[in-house]
Amino acid sequence: MIQIAPSLLASDLLRIGDEVRACELAGADVLHVDVMDGHFVPPITFGPAFVKGLKAITQMPLDVHLMVSNPDHQVEQFAEAGADWISVHAEVAPHLHPTLGRIKSLGCRAGVVLNPATPLDFAFEAAGDADFILMMSVNPGYGGQAFIQSFLPRCERLRAWLDSNGLSHVQIEVDGGIKISNARDAVNAGASILVSGSGLFSGDLAANIREMKRVTS
Ligand code: DX5
Ligand code: ZN
Repeated sequence: MIQIAPSLLASDLLRIGDEVRACELAGADVLHVDVMDGHFVPPITFGPAFVKGLKAITQMPLDVHLMVSNPDHQVEQFAEAGADWISVHAEVAPHLHPTLGRIKSLGCRAGVVLNPATPLDFAFEAAGDADFILMMSVNPGYGGQAFIQSFLPRCERLRAWLDSNGLSHVQIEVDGGIKISNARDAVNAGASILVSGSGLFSGDLAANIREMKRVTS
């Protein structure tokens, strides 16, 4: 099953209740929450209080993408706030196996994130302990960037490796520059969770979600 994960970074935060309800009604599967610390990436975005607020208004799983320099300092707070999925960047998580174990012991699904230029070996080494691999198709930090095409062969290679190593259950999530026009390409390359910010929130959100579901089903 393909899951659509609207990225709230592109939403109208002053109308967040309406935006979340619209995502839910249109059939979005997961809500993607981009946590940026002003250090791993320049912007500062959401903290645990925001996640706690979301948890109170929606049943959709909350997918917390930690773009922070010290993810080990953060996983507990976000799990307590109501995160359902937590992913950490391999580039800044030097002890991936215990970090993923900690996330799972807190009752969350655990993900490893790779930047577009990070070797796939980082995923190969940790995939056995992960529920999903989040593959960036832009460099993290900002919404609205152009999709990096080399994501597609990279994703194919990762999917093939996972499948041939008994890890077919490990999902690939794609994040960055996903629009209705390229969503199918990402699915064909092996992604089964599609994050999309500007591709869904520009224009008619509900219609965009429905169309992205249609083209990927
Ligand atoms: C980028 C974030 C993305 C971002 C995607 O650092 O991780 O989740 O919101 O935005 P779009 O879909 O506009 O590229
Ligand atoms: Zn993200």
